[in-house]
Amino acid sequence: RRRELAVPVRCSLSAAGLAAVAPILRDLKMKCDTPLPVLRHVADSMSADMRAGLATNGGSDLKMILSYVDSLPTGNELGLFYALDLGGTNFRVLRVQLGGKEERIIDTEFEQVSIPQELMYGTTEELFDFIVSGLARFVEKESTKFHLAEGSKREIGFTFSFPVKQTSIDSGILIKWTKGFAVSGTAGRDVVVCLNEALVRQGLDIRVSALVNDAVSTLAGAHYWDEDVKVAVILGTGTNACYVESIEAIPKLQGSAYGSGKTIINIEWGAFSTGLPLTEFDREMDNESINPGEQLFEKTISGMYLGEIVRRVLKKMAKASTLFGDSFPEKLSVPFSLRQISFIIEEYILNDWMVIHPCYHETETMTLSTPHLCTMQQDDSGDLDKVGLILSGTLGVKNSSLGARKIVQDICDTIVKRGSRLAGAGIVGILQKVEQDSIGQIFQKRTVVAMDGGLYEHYPQYRHYLKEAVAELLGVEVFKNVFIEHTKDGSGIGAALLAAANSKYFA
Ligand code: GLC
Repeated sequence: RRRELAVPVRCSLSAAGLAAVAPILRDLKMKCDTPLPVLRHVADSMSADMRAGLATNGGSDLKMILSYVDSLPTGNELGLFYALDLGGTNFRVLRVQLGGKEERIIDTEFEQVSIPQELMYGTTEELFDFIVSGLARFVEKESTKFHLAEGSKREIGFTFSFPVKQTSIDSGILIKWTKGFAVSGTAGRDVVVCLNEALVRQGLDIRVSALVNDAVSTLAGAHYWDEDVKVAVILGTGTNACYVESIEAIPKLQGSAYGSGKTIINIEWGAFSTGLPLTEFDREMDNESINPGEQLFEKTISGMYLGEIVRRVLKKMAKASTLFGDSFPEKLSVPFSLRQISFIIEEYILNDWMVIHPCYHETETMTLSTPHLCTMQQDDSGDLDKVGLILSGTLGVKNSSLGARKIVQDICDTIVKRGSRLAGAGIVGILQKVEQDSIGQIFQKRTVVAMDGGLYEHYPQYRHYLKEAVAELLGVEVFKNVFIEHTKDGSGIGAALLAAANSKYFA
């Protein structure tokens, strides 16, 4: 797939072409603007919607799901544990040998398997059988470096990154699929039962001892190393956040068997919608999505959607002007697919972000996606050659002028800046909610927000704008105490640690 590609021929953007583009660009920037008052409104609304979600089961965009994780890993966890992580178009399996306080993680191994596209739209049995067969192959390869304690059996933590109504630490019902999944027969069912049934069908003897969301397992994994971690945020294909909450601050739990203490709340913040600065492009994308009206925060800030928003802006501009020459590049009309995002992210992990993109010239169905925005934003060469290559490779724009390339970069920046600043405001919304309940608990001591997900990890401008927004909202003094830190792969280890904490064999 990799071959040398000629840099496309350039033609200039005429004054008339520019004149038609300028008002669209101006309008876009105005509507996507996130000055402090807009951020403040979003942060305050996030806090208020969190409270509303904690008060009742329903009535708020935010589900504020109880995770049943009431104690975080301590470091004392011992033994061999597995984790299974399903959240995008890949699933990951992992095993870890835990050595207690002194040795911590003695050994770990993982594998990643890509899920065939048809399984994302297939049946529950097909999907779970596929996952379990991957898990079974991985378990078979367990080497002598790993030891199962006598009298125990293999246990696994299942990270399932979709909205689930937890019914205990090891059971939960899928509310709905998100992120482009549309598997039939799973919504309304206990996903651990689905997994167990597939384990039985395939004859794999392993006990599912914890079911967790990826934000929750990231918090657990990060907290294992740093006890000041109070919040975890995922910014990848989708987005979500969770945090440590006091039981007394959860009205919907009062009168239940819960006593006092702390628990982790899975906010499912992708569903947040109050006060977002949205444009016609967001509305169109939402209308045409498989879940219209849902996951609006996710659709504005996460990796699955940013590239698609930019494509829609470019399409409008190309129709109204000669931005990309006299004829309209037909590929600008091809909508995104989730598949292609994961493909690129996978390639990115294996290769180098900057050098892989030209090879996408050869992928017919490839259209613009978020990793392309990232590459284009990194292009600081005078000619913006990479921008030209991506426009030609993904959108079929053969002749882009330097002026057009600059405009494209500007649009990427506008959309990414809006998304990342709103994500920052969301984080402040969580921090200030906890601070309001117990003054000094967050803002007067070191507080760590654990971040994970491909978008956050690989997109430098996104990270930068997000932190900048948090700093603007909190002010310099408070921001000194808030550490926004990337936790790489905390989710896998976190799920294994929670499996250990809920083990049947290790008290
Ligand atoms: C989606 C899912 C959520 C998950 C997030 C990040 O928003 O609904 O459960 O945590 O993506 O993967």
